[in-house]
Amino acid sequence: MKNKLIEVTDLKVSFFHETGKVQVVRGFDMSLDSGEIIGILGESGSGKTVSATSILKLEEDDVGIIDSGEVIFKGMHLLDLSETELRKIRGNRISYIFQNASSALNPFKRIGKQLTEVLKNHKLAYSKELVLQTLVEVGIEDADTVYDMYPFQLSGGQNQRIMIAQCIISRPDLLIADEPTSSIDASLRKIVLDVLKEINRKTRMSIIIITHDFDVAKYLCDRLVIMYGGLVVEEGTIDEIFADPLHPYTKELIICAGSLTRGDDIVYTLEGSPPSPFQFRDECPFANRCKVSLPECSSEIPRTLEIAGRKVRCVRYEKR
Ligand SMILES: Nc1ncnc2c1ncn2[C@@H]1O[C@H](COP(=O)(O)OP(=O)(O)O)[C@@H](O)[C@H]1O
Ligand SMILES: [Mg+2]
Repeated sequence: MKNKLIEVTDLKVSFFHETGKVQVVRGFDMSLDSGEIIGILGESGSGKTVSATSILKLEEDDVGIIDSGEVIFKGMHLLDLSETELRKIRGNRISYIFQNASSALNPFKRIGKQLTEVLKNHKLAYSKELVLQTLVEVGIEDADTVYDMYPFQLSGGQNQRIMIAQCIISRPDLLIADEPTSSIDASLRKIVLDVLKEINRKTRMSIIIITHDFDVAKYLCDRLVIMYGGLVVEEGTIDEIFADPLHPYTKELIICAGSLTRGDDIVYTLEGSPPSPFQFRDECPFANRCKVSLPECSSEIPRTLEIAGRKVRCVRYEKR
């Protein structure tokens, strides 16, 4: 039997601008089983980061507000927890690798000390053995030597591994990696993806990977959640989505990704750009770029339909 780790239902998140309140996430649903790797995929600005950080209530401050939604993590309702209670979960049960996190390492501290500090911050027992074991898990072979070294003595690839080690040393149940390969050299990208894959395989840690890159998703994920205009527009297993994408947006994304990897002379790109939250209306956000849109696409936000265990938010699949 599958073991549900986290379930997010109908999450909606807004920000306050000079002009008023603007909802940027309008419907985010996701569920993840233990040991699974799920990808949140979509163009920049579609609401991936805001959705994922809202799971840990990181967006709730004086500029942001969670309008509605439910997040159940191991039976706990996260959005109902106090800051003190949430602090025990953040970085401890759920770890988050932030977008552009390359500066997470302190250049003046030895690697062993930096990893030990993570344990201390989460009030976990100091154990050199655990630090060394974690270094090995992220693919650092000479862990004993690296323990006493500084970040500048290591290669870029090793530093990436150590950054991941910082996030997994507390043995979280869930690791959220937000565009972990977008701010690093192409040569380091595969290292990071392989480390994540290995950790999942060895420890069965669940992973949410946020990416705009279909190839990254295909390489790592069991299942995908596709976002557009602050909404989840499709969800399914990676095989289902590649073999038979349901949403017109997903179909276009796959064609674009394919043209890059095939090395086509003419790279296919999606025409137009996604709407900004200021332009959101009660309509399908993809309607104006969609090649198969219908008149009713512009009259309401499509609801999520279940089709043979898969989910899609498109009026074309409404039973007529
Ligand atoms: N702190 C913030 N204040 C106001 N608007 C924000 C803030 N963070 C994100 N947004 C807006 O929310 C939308 C979704 O952003 P984000 O979740 O970062 O997109 P993605 O991660 O998919 O690229 C964007 O339009 C962005 O401009
Ligand atoms: Mg983002």
